Amino acid sequence: MTRQATIVPGLPAKVLSVAPMLDWTDRHCRHFHRLLSRHALLYTEMVTTGALIHGDVERHLRFGVEEHPVALQLGGSEPADLAHCARLGEQWGYDEINLNCGCPSERVQRGAFGACLMAEPALVADGVKAMVDRVGIPVTVKHRIGIDRQESYDFVRDFVGTVSEAGCGGFVVHARNAWLKGLSPKQNREIPPLRYELVHRLKHDFPHLRISLNGGIVSDAQVHEHLRLLDGVMVGREAYHNPWWLADWDATFFGEAVIERTREDVEASMCDYMAREAAEHGTPWSNIARHMLGLRNGLPGARRWRQVWSDHRLKALAPHAVMALAHAPADHAVA
Ligand SMILES: Cc1cc2nc3c(=O)[nH]c(=O)nc-3n(C[C@H](O)[C@H](O)[C@H](O)COP(=O)(O)O)c2cc1C
Repeated sequence: MTRQATIVPGLPAKVLSVAPMLDWTDRHCRHFHRLLSRHALLYTEMVTTGALIHGDVERHLRFGVEEHPVALQLGGSEPADLAHCARLGEQWGYDEINLNCGCPSERVQRGAFGACLMAEPALVADGVKAMVDRVGIPVTVKHRIGIDRQESYDFVRDFVGTVSEAGCGGFVVHARNAWLKGLSPKQNREIPPLRYELVHRLKHDFPHLRISLNGGIVSDAQVHEHLRLLDGVMVGREAYHNPWWLADWDATFFGEAVIERTREDVEASMCDYMAREAAEHGTPWSNIARHMLGLRNGLPGARRWRQVWSDHRLKALAPHAVMALAHAPADHAVA
């Protein structure tokens, strides 16, 4: 995985990352998160091999140079396709290729990839080997601790063992099972119980591998606890819904000096970015602003601020004018 600064003495660099999230962690979202933390490793949404082979490569892979370190997550199972797409990812400048073996959606199961790949470790190993042979950047796998009611530790241990022998040095483990029948993807992020102890057992049994933990992490204390013993922690929903948490990460976990800045400074930078994106690519500001709606969570007036930034009737206004309106007293709101 991408090497990063750490304040944990005596240990190799630790990674704190924002999870791949479909429809959420697009390049605009990652730009926003990068304004908040310089060190967090950022993941793309899952991009399928089919989308890259048959679709618009630039649309899926273009990203801003400021986003580094950034990892491309692929969805697929065919080794030759994965190798081709991993190479594309490397050519476009990504720092890591990650294979999705954790998504339980019906659509992904029909494509025979995502979490159902955990039942086929040899196929995953072939895919990983094909990618490792083709690229010079790290290849990692994101997976669950089991599928359906398969609760035994041996299952995930054997999966990691087989896949690591093919050259995968980094595993991001979402510490709950994926129940492939009967639960929606959302329920599959909430109902199967979290079992962090299995991730720690993996690190114990495979000390040479980089093992990161994901699932249900919402506090500094949890990040510290797991980073002490593991190589990385990945945060998904909490990072998206409560992004101001990221503003402390560099100082808290990477030993950087505290930067004095406000949420308004970050919002103003986002306005500059929205203006640039509109001028250069015709991107409406609403496509970008939607990712920062959690920025003022917990502050007085947050609801109205969110309403203004979600108000599509304002789409003709310049982003800085929308920001002014969002901070104006309520009676200045547009009718
Ligand atoms: C809206 C949404 C989209 C997601 N899309 C992906 C995806 O594309 N690839 C993936 O591996 N996981 C995906 N996930 C799962 C997250 O990466 C993460 O594993 C999960 O949310 C658990 O972490 P958390 O409890 O910190 O949110 C998605 C989660 C959410 C909420």
